[in-house]
Amino acid sequence: MDIFVSSKKLSELKTNMLVIFFSKEEIKKIFKKGIKPLFKEIEKVIISKDFDGEFKKTMLVHTENKIKRLLLVGLGNEKKIDEEKIRKACYFVLSEVKDLKLETFSILLPTIKKIKKENICKAITEGVILSDYDFNKYKIEERKRVKDIKYVELIFPKVIGKGEKEIIKKTKIVCDNVNLLRDWVNEDSDKLNPLEISKMAKDIAKKYGLKINIFDEKMLKRMGMELIINVGRGSRYPPRVVIMEYKNGKSDNIVLIGKGITFDSGGLDLKPPKYIENMKMDKAGALTVLAIMKTVAEIDMKINLIGIMPLCENMIGPMAYKPGSILKSFSGKTVEVEDTDAEGRLILADILSYAERTFKPKLMVDIATLTGSVLITFGEYVAAMLSNNKKIVNAMFQSGQRTYERVWELPLYDEYLDEIKGDVADIKNLGYKKGLYAGTIIGGAFLRKFIDRTPWIHIDIAGTGWYEKRRYYIPKGATGFGLRLILDFLNTL
Ligand code: BES
Ligand code: ZN
Ligand code: ZN
Repeated sequence: MDIFVSSKKLSELKTNMLVIFFSKEEIKKIFKKGIKPLFKEIEKVIISKDFDGEFKKTMLVHTENKIKRLLLVGLGNEKKIDEEKIRKACYFVLSEVKDLKLETFSILLPTIKKIKKENICKAITEGVILSDYDFNKYKIEERKRVKDIKYVELIFPKVIGKGEKEIIKKTKIVCDNVNLLRDWVNEDSDKLNPLEISKMAKDIAKKYGLKINIFDEKMLKRMGMELIINVGRGSRYPPRVVIMEYKNGKSDNIVLIGKGITFDSGGLDLKPPKYIENMKMDKAGALTVLAIMKTVAEIDMKINLIGIMPLCENMIGPMAYKPGSILKSFSGKTVEVEDTDAEGRLILADILSYAERTFKPKLMVDIATLTGSVLITFGEYVAAMLSNNKKIVNAMFQSGQRTYERVWELPLYDEYLDEIKGDVADIKNLGYKKGLYAGTIIGGAFLRKFIDRTPWIHIDIAGTGWYEKRRYYIPKGATGFGLRLILDFLNTL
């Protein structure tokens, strides 16, 4: 879907449908004071009290001029309108557009006193593009019937600045990448296995001129990445580690690391059917990193960014690694495998110490579908963050508030670090009540042990990365959570 700004006057506009947003107060004003709305058809609707501007309400009105239809969309109480309300309201617009099978339509940009014009542009672009997602690649029959939306025209009531146009362009790139990321995470785990993901990364690196390095299993063995090798042992697809470097700035490197378990069966500690069902989503962290690398290149962000993706499939079988094994990590610390299903922390551990030593970055961010426990704590609404640096936590929190990809900090007190001391090795991968207590914190504590001094933040997206049902502009299945959050965060550095 294309999205562009038009400077047409309403009197010159010819369109299938013009979307107009209203707050409750605006409707009341028109009703009580007899102020003339833009179109006489709207006046009729308001006098009839059929449309009151309530949030979630829409009203379709036919006209007899060049604008065939008007879609009135409620934003609710003026005081309560924020960017998130606008994004959500756009979902109702898209539903109507799809019902009517329109290929093009127009939106009149609203003016909302307390929200900056460029933020309104951003929220509408996000709402429209993110709502226009459906994982329908494999719905052959349905795809024959539905028509894709070709373009949306944004109409400005007054003059538009260069700034707004830029924001719309950039936001479109970001949101197209969120939709691409959703497609990747929803994709079958046999299609997007470690080998295929590394090929995809290679193609992206080539297209955008990024440096790329791919370690195969032989290289990983030679380097002493025993944790990654072992997690990947039970699979027909060998593990890979992909390292991408984007250089376009003067300041020190920032490293992004994403958990890339292309399928998590649990290994010999096999998951029960209900929990294994959606485990193709366990690659979300790595793919978020890949999508971010692509996005920063497309928007020409001024930054030096290194993206690292450890990729393994955690499978059961005669070759699989075992509970009770003692493994030597890249850092030299030994790890007792209490549970083969706590595999994410193992592959991330090797990479965290590797990245710290190799790149000496000023900051490391890891993103991972690490623990089911985060769902118990926050449900699907908030991601957990754990860190060794207060400043980073605060910045990430603010990015969460702005993007509505919200994060909340959990504590990493020393007592938690003590809980994972090994019985026969340096560290164990469950610890505290065999994984029963403080699961998300213990996951973070394990990672913490593999970082020496670098500022670091871990984001657990096991709850926010996958939805059981659609919620407005966020579809069922892969949500794409994390890309907008981390991009906003990188922008504040
Ligand atoms: N990939 C899972 C975490 C997960 C759970 C992601 C639910 C998405 C939805 C992870 O590898 C895992 O299995 N974690 C275990 C840890 C436990 C064994 C300490 C868990 O959360 O049950
Ligand atoms: Zn697992
Ligand atoms: Zn996992």
